[in-house]
Amino acid sequence: MSNFVNYNRASRSYDNQRFPAGSDTMAAMIQFYTSKNLPDLRILDAGCGTGNYSKSLLDIGVGQMALLDSSSEMLKTAKDKLDNYIECGKVTDVVECTMPPIPFPDDSFDAVLFNTVLNHLDRANSAFPNCVETLNESRRILRPNGVIIVSTALPSAILNAVWFTKINTKLTKRFIENAVPSLDQFEKMFIASGIECFQKMNILGSDIFKNYYNVDGLPEESWLKENEYLTFATESEAGELFRKVKELKENGELENWVKENDHTQTIGVLTIFVCKPVSAK
Ligand SMILES: C[S@@+](CC[C@H](N)C(=O)[O-])C[C@H]1O[C@@H](n2cnc3c(N)ncnc32)[C@H](O)[C@@H]1O
Repeated sequence: MSNFVNYNRASRSYDNQRFPAGSDTMAAMIQFYTSKNLPDLRILDAGCGTGNYSKSLLDIGVGQMALLDSSSEMLKTAKDKLDNYIECGKVTDVVECTMPPIPFPDDSFDAVLFNTVLNHLDRANSAFPNCVETLNESRRILRPNGVIIVSTALPSAILNAVWFTKINTKLTKRFIENAVPSLDQFEKMFIASGIECFQKMNILGSDIFKNYYNVDGLPEESWLKENEYLTFATESEAGELFRKVKELKENGELENWVKENDHTQTIGVLTIFVCKPVSAK
């Protein structure tokens, strides 16, 4: 269960916003480091949400995916989306579970994915006990040569790349302090769970949100509704944010303002960590 977003409710609008940024890079990394062909891979999408990454990886040619999430409604959307793959057996499992634990036997997967998931497991706890236990579990269920992929938006990207986080930096800092582990904190989690990150990369242009540049859609609150950032705003802060955007738009200044404050094309929002159990080195 996420510590700050109600994903059963968010499931209704999630796919209007998100797309599987970097899934092709992840497939290439998994193939390369496991030395296996795509059809021979079995991958766990841990915190799969509505199944966007699973679908993309299966479309690319991955042999088998297992899905796990704590939200029954996100899983329902995922099942609808992956109907054909479930029928033909390429989706082997769809499990509702709050991590940790990860209820699969040892040596089950060539890769475990955590795409923008780990930051939901511990709120404002600098030891990140749930993340450490969950990563430990992922190490246990990996096959020999298996890899763990963690993707996330880091604080620097949220502060510097995303235009709408610059409207209220106090809110942005509160969001980061409560819900966005830093690079240093991720590295400490990896060490504490016996895994090592050996490759880090940013996906340029990974604005994560489909409607990020659709400034026409902005003042309608549907764009940011259920957005994890706004769950940290007070009612008046959220209202102020929408008012500011509306005002910029009415003055014909919004497009320029977004251009000046957006750096997703040069910084990227999504960071991908590729990790292995320490003993596997
Ligand atoms: C930001 S969404 C990411 C979904 C998907 N991985 C993607 O990238 O589109 C976070 C997902 O993590 C799930 N989640 C949060 N905490 C969880 C937990 N403790 N165990 C399992 N799933 C969790 C939520 O239900 C939600 O579907």
